[in-house]
Amino acid sequence: MKVLVTGATGRTGSEVVKALLERGVDVRALTRKQLKPGTLPSAVEIALGDLTDPVSTAEALKDVDKLFLLIAGVPDEIVQALTTYSLSKRAGLKHMTYLSVYQADRFLEVPHFAAKYAVEEAIRAGRMPYTILRPAYFVQNERGLKAALTDTGVYPIPAGNRGVAVTDVRDIAEVAAISLTEEGHEGKTYDLVSSDMLTGPGAAATWSKLLGKKITYAGHGDFDNFEVRMRKTGNPLRETANPISWLAHDLRLMFEGFVERGFRNTEDQTARVAALLGRPPRTYSAYAEELATEWATS
Ligand SMILES: NC(=O)c1ccc[n+]([C@@H]2O[C@H](COP(=O)([O-])OP(=O)(O)OC[C@H]3O[C@@H](n4cnc5c(N)ncnc54)[C@H](OP(=O)(O)O)[C@@H]3O)[C@@H](O)[C@H]2O)c1
Repeated sequence: MKVLVTGATGRTGSEVVKALLERGVDVRALTRKQLKPGTLPSAVEIALGDLTDPVSTAEALKDVDKLFLLIAGVPDEIVQALTTYSLSKRAGLKHMTYLSVYQADRFLEVPHFAAKYAVEEAIRAGRMPYTILRPAYFVQNERGLKAALTDTGVYPIPAGNRGVAVTDVRDIAEVAAISLTEEGHEGKTYDLVSSDMLTGPGAAATWSKLLGKKITYAGHGDFDNFEVRMRKTGNPLRETANPISWLAHDLRLMFEGFVERGFRNTEDQTARVAALLGRPPRTYSAYAEELATEWATS
């Protein structure tokens, strides 16, 4: 069986590639660029293409059986997703696992949530077998906070006090691989949440303990300033500077929603993820420990 993985060079997609290879699946990775040797495991077949281009996308879908579809944080997310979906149906693929977002339908004022929910609904209404994955806030986002935490001593994410559900991308990858290789996952939508939740003050306390110094929560009282900072310095959820105004505004709306209404998980949802994985999902605190150890030795 061969699976096309989009976003294969990114945080989540690269873990999906690994998880599929571990299960003996043939993997084709879609990327827009010539990759340096070693970027992906040598067993992976590379398809050069761009999801904004239906011709190269259709070419990449030839002779594959299934698809893992991840669209990057882009303003034309819905166009890329629905184009790839229709081409996958036309190519006769047997299954697609789509990366959406937790509570996609509860934050419809946030462009990237609304786009994902519209895509989910199109997939549910279509006739192609599917699994929808709804991960929450990636614990891996915190990798981009090294300077803020270790130099400035500030936890800068306006996570609020109500609770933000979290997910480790390695757990997403495992569930994606399960959904693409095992029976019983067709037509399912999985909330992928861990057992712990993020709050601004809670994160500051966690990092204070791990780094052995006082970390202050920057608060969530000034979203104008948060948006301006993001426009200037880049997306705080990524390591690389990505100063894009539309995304700064989109993420502002998302965090405002989280502060006002929360983005909480439930014990039932966590138990369902544990049942899928056969073990408890990875937690925020475990990843924070991993990062603190890495930063201390690098
Ligand atoms: N961060 C969070 O907390 C969070 C939570 C829930 C859901 N999500 C969702 O997760 C997704 C992002 O996942 P990620 O962080 O793993 O991604 P990422 O690391 O930012 O990687 C983006 C990937 O998309 C590919 N890509 C970008 N534009 C493309 C195009 N036009 N055609 C083909 N490929 C393209 C890139 O490949 P090349 O550069 O090799 O072409 C790269 O592999 C978004 O949909 C986001 O909404 C994020």
